[in-house]
Amino acid sequence: MNPGPMPMGALNAELDAHLRARARRQRLGRGEVLFLRGSAPDALYCVDVGVVRLCVTSSSGREAVLGLVTPGHWFGEASLFTGEPRSHDALAVVDSELLAVPAAALHELVDGRPAYLLQFLRLMGLRYRSTLERLDDAALQPLPVRLARKLLEMSRSDATATAGDGVLQISQEDLAHALGVSRQSINRILKRWEAAGVLQVNYRSLVLLKPEALGFV
Ligand code: CMP
Repeated sequence: MNPGPMPMGALNAELDAHLRARARRQRLGRGEVLFLRGSAPDALYCVDVGVVRLCVTSSSGREAVLGLVTPGHWFGEASLFTGEPRSHDALAVVDSELLAVPAAALHELVDGRPAYLLQFLRLMGLRYRSTLERLDDAALQPLPVRLARKLLEMSRSDATATAGDGVLQISQEDLAHALGVSRQSINRILKRWEAAGVLQVNYRSLVLLKPEALGFV
C-alpha cells in the first residue's frame, strides 16, 4: 500500500514526553526551509503546529515529495543515528511551529535505554517498509490505482492536511510529485472522477464526495 502523504513519526507517550521536555520551539514561515538535503544534522524535530514537506529537488528544478509531516510526528532521526547527511529537504508548507531536540540531548536521552532505541528502530523500520512498498507500487500498479490509494490514505489520516468533511488540502502538483508523474496525468484522472461525481476538484484542494468509489478503481 502506498505510504500516503504523512510519514509515520509517532513515538510512544513516554519517549515523546522526554523529547518534548528537551526541545526548544522553532517557528517557520510558509515556504521557509528547515534543512536541506546534504546538510549536517543537528537536531530531531517534531511538528507541533502546521505541516512540513520532506522532498528532493533535481538540478532541473523538479521536486519529488517524500511526505508531509503533520502535528505530533517526529522526523530527522535518520541522519542523527546514521551519521549521514540529511537525505531530504524539509520546509514548512504553512506557517509552522516545530519542537527541536538538539542531537546531544537526544543521544544523552537514549544512551543506555534500549526501550527508547527500539522506538526509533521501529520508526526507521516502518519508513524502510513504506519505501519498499512505494517502490513496488510504482513498479506494479497503474496510476489510477496508486492515485486512489493515496487519496484514501490521506482521507484516513488524522493529519491537518485533511480538514475534515472529505476535504484534502493537497495540490495536483504535490500529488504528481508524490507519485512521480506529470501534473497533466493526475489532472486527467481527477477530471474523469469529477465527471463521475466521485470528487470535486478545487484550487489546491479536493473534496471526496464518494470515497467508497475509489476503493473500486
Ligand atoms: P533525515 O535523513 O535526518 O532527514 C530527512 C528525514 O526524512 C529523515 O531523517 C526521516 O526522518 C524522514 N524520512 C526518510 N525516509 C522516509 C520515509 N521513507 N518515509 C517517511 N519519512 C522518511
